[in-house]
Amino acid sequence: MHQIAVLASGFGSNAAKLMDYFQNHPQIRVALVVSNNASARVLTKAGERRIPVEVLPGPAWENREKLLKVFENYQVETIVLAGYMRLLPPYFVKAYRNRIINIHPALLPAFGGKGMYGMHVHRAVIESGAHKSGITIHLVNEQYDEGEILFSKSLDVLPEDTPESLAKKVLELEHRYYAPVVENYILHGPDMKISD
Ligand code: GAR
Repeated sequence: MHQIAVLASGFGSNAAKLMDYFQNHPQIRVALVVSNNASARVLTKAGERRIPVEVLPGPAWENREKLLKVFENYQVETIVLAGYMRLLPPYFVKAYRNRIINIHPALLPAFGGKGMYGMHVHRAVIESGAHKSGITIHLVNEQYDEGEILFSKSLDVLPEDTPESLAKKVLELEHRYYAPVVENYILHGPDMKISD
């Protein structure tokens, strides 16, 4: 079994999709859900599915041996970020080089970088007048939103769209594609064979 850890900071709808997609998977399992936030809804979602959780707030990441041990204890091989709002420390990125995947709610490289997360992204897209947005699934390196892109999917931004309506459409794309892209990457590497 290839064990993955899902990291999330808040509601965790993408995390829940990942947990469900891999629930009876023959090769991949969500072994651990991690949040930096003890009151994150994602922890309840993991509990309902009997998936182990760890709360690792900011200071916990300063003790690298102890922190890496947490993931080793669950034999985690791949890290999947699903609405995780903190930059991972360089030692962690190095330890899991090319084995950390993130989803971003816009078409990178536009609308990425520090401060560009959640509704901030959708507000920026609407304010820019862009006609397209979408999702980007990418590997994580030491910079925000700059790792190798594995997959992206676009959608039309309509004149009547608001940040809220755009967020809803983007989230639907995320729910549809994130788990299959993670699966494809783990089983076959960065060449994506994802059907609509
Ligand atoms: C998702 O839209 C995800 O793309 C975004 O946070 C949302 C989490 O929703 N992530 C970022 O903005 C990272 N830069 P969820 O908690 O319901 O899965």
